[in-house]
Amino acid sequence: MQARSVAEVGTGTGVSGLWLLRGMQDDGVLTSVDLEAEHQRLARETFSEAGYAPQRFRLIAGSGLDVMARLTDAGYDLVFLDGDKAEYGEYLEQAVRLVRPGGLIVFDNALWHDRVADPSQRDPETAAIRDVVQRVATDDRLRSVLVPLGDGLLVAQLLP
Ligand SMILES: C[S@@+](CC[C@H](N)C(=O)[O-])C[C@H]1O[C@@H](n2cnc3c(N)ncnc32)[C@H](O)[C@@H]1O
Repeated sequence: MQARSVAEVGTGTGVSGLWLLRGMQDDGVLTSVDLEAEHQRLARETFSEAGYAPQRFRLIAGSGLDVMARLTDAGYDLVFLDGDKAEYGEYLEQAVRLVRPGGLIVFDNALWHDRVADPSQRDPETAAIRDVVQRVATDDRLRSVLVPLGDGLLVAQLLP
C-alpha cells in the first residue's frame, strides 16, 4: 500500500516493527508505542542493526490509549495493534479516527490461541478480541478479513 506513515501499539522488541518498516516507502516513518521502555530499547537496537536511520522510527513510551489520543486524525496509512488485548475495543475506536480513508487497521492475535472461537472462554482478553472481531465485521465504515495465519490477523480497511 506504499505506506508512509504507520502507527503501532505494542512495540515489543521490534519484530513486527521491522516487517512494517520493510513494507513502507523509503521515507516512511513508524510511530510505535509501548509501556515498557526496556522493550523499546531493544526495538531501537533491532531497527538500527537492520540499517534503519533513527528518523525512520519514533518510539514513544507510554500507554497505548493515552498516546493514541494525542496522534493526528487521519494521519496514518496503517495502524497495527498488538498491545493490551483487553483494550482492543478502545484501540478500534481510536484507530478508526487515526487511519486515513482507504487505510488499514490490523489487529494481531485475532484468534487468541483458538480461545476467541470457543464461547466457554470468557476472560477479559478473549472477550475483548471476540467483541472487536464482531464489531469490525458489522461496521459499515469498514471491510475486513480475518487471516487465519499464526495466531490470526484481523485486517480492516476504512472505506474511502
Ligand atoms: C506481544 S508484545 C508486542 C510484540 C511486537 N509487536 C512484536 O511483534 O515484536 C505486546 C507489547 O505490548 C506492550 N503493552 C502491553 N500493554 C500495553 C499498553 N496498555 N500500552 C502500550 N503497550 C502495551 C507490552 O509491553 C509488550 O511489549
